[in-house]
Amino acid sequence: MSSFGTIVVTGGAGFIGSAVIRHLIGSTMATVVNVDKLTYAGNLESLADVADNPRYRFERLDICDFDAVREVFARHRPDAVLHLAAESHVDRSIDGPRVFVETNVVGTYTLLEVARAYWQDLEPTAKSRFRFHHVSTDEVYGSLPAEGLFTEDMPYHPNSPYSASKASSDHLVRAWHHTYGLPVLITNCSNNYGPYQFPEKLIPVVILSALAGKQLPIYGTGDNVRDWLYVDDHAVALHLVLSRGTIGETYNIGGHNERTNLEVVRSICGILDELCPDSPLRPHASLISFVTDRLGHDKRYAIDATKIGRDLGWKPSETFESGLRNTVEWYLNNRVWWERVLSGSYRQTANDAEIGKTRRHAV
Ligand SMILES: NC(=O)c1ccc[n+]([C@@H]2O[C@H](COP(=O)([O-])OP(=O)(O)OC[C@H]3O[C@@H](n4cnc5c(N)ncnc54)[C@H](O)[C@@H]3O)[C@@H](O)[C@H]2O)c1
Repeated sequence: MSSFGTIVVTGGAGFIGSAVIRHLIGSTMATVVNVDKLTYAGNLESLADVADNPRYRFERLDICDFDAVREVFARHRPDAVLHLAAESHVDRSIDGPRVFVETNVVGTYTLLEVARAYWQDLEPTAKSRFRFHHVSTDEVYGSLPAEGLFTEDMPYHPNSPYSASKASSDHLVRAWHHTYGLPVLITNCSNNYGPYQFPEKLIPVVILSALAGKQLPIYGTGDNVRDWLYVDDHAVALHLVLSRGTIGETYNIGGHNERTNLEVVRSICGILDELCPDSPLRPHASLISFVTDRLGHDKRYAIDATKIGRDLGWKPSETFESGLRNTVEWYLNNRVWWERVLSGSYRQTANDAEIGKTRRHAV
């Protein structure tokens, strides 16, 4: 489907970015340039399946570094940018908002400025083919009451430092289209889950805590509602929007899978009971405990994904039940990946990549 020769993916060592890169390498002929700073959330071990592919490249840099980003554009000559690099964890944004403003706002601004200068100098055919696709979240719309869905024309109402920084970046992207004509696309997606998710987000935290026999902490009464999408379905949707979306448009992406946090945790416990019949921890639901709710916790998110279905023919392939089962099975079968994350040894892979790069430059 993709006619892009080279795609820069920012944040490609993260949870969704690595799924996007696996999809692009597996399903297209594009060369994929992974631009990632490798913060705590970046893990090159999530890209082990594609690392040796001749169409995969890795560039370790901070998207706030204008000169470094410009140099990467000049060297790789991308036809498209899929921008996922971000600080992404709401709890961390409450404890330390500054880096969220730096990466999500200043980093996006920097990328936009580099992309604008690069795009303006392209010859006409390449110029008309170029796309800048900004990946965002449904959290920019704020919190919903018991009824209603987020549509693309909903006013923004961000409530956390994370969602405010993402909302700011969405506005910048939109403005760079309206002011300068940069050919942008924006997608706003609901909560993702699936393999390779860093164990700070709800689903992997619950799976790994339950396996270890630890308490399963749930904020408040667990009645906050999120709309869940399997990460590989998101990756397919992003590629579709990048390839066929209308320039300047926003597309909401969601799986029509609204669940309370308590329902999610109970489902994980049920799957673990089934997949680990000999575990002395059964029933895993007995590990559930309730903790003080977090500040500014949005009550409900739910996406109306009608537009992307109607205009681009996308629909998710996983139900919440099938996707959650895949996810629990993946964590059961990929202990080495998450044990190295929990022990911190995955950071060594980042250092090795850096050493390898220095050596290559030295040759
Ligand atoms: N996870 C979700 O449920 C979800 C839902 C909707 C939208 N999103 C958006 O999708 C994108 C990816 O989310 P994720 O969950 O994969 O995030 P993640 O935290 O797993 O990964 C973020 C990646 O960005 C990199 N990064 C961070 N700061 C950087 C910088 N200054 N320069 C270069 N690279 C940097 C990190 O090293 C990491 O590899 C984000 O923009 C997020 O807002 C996430």
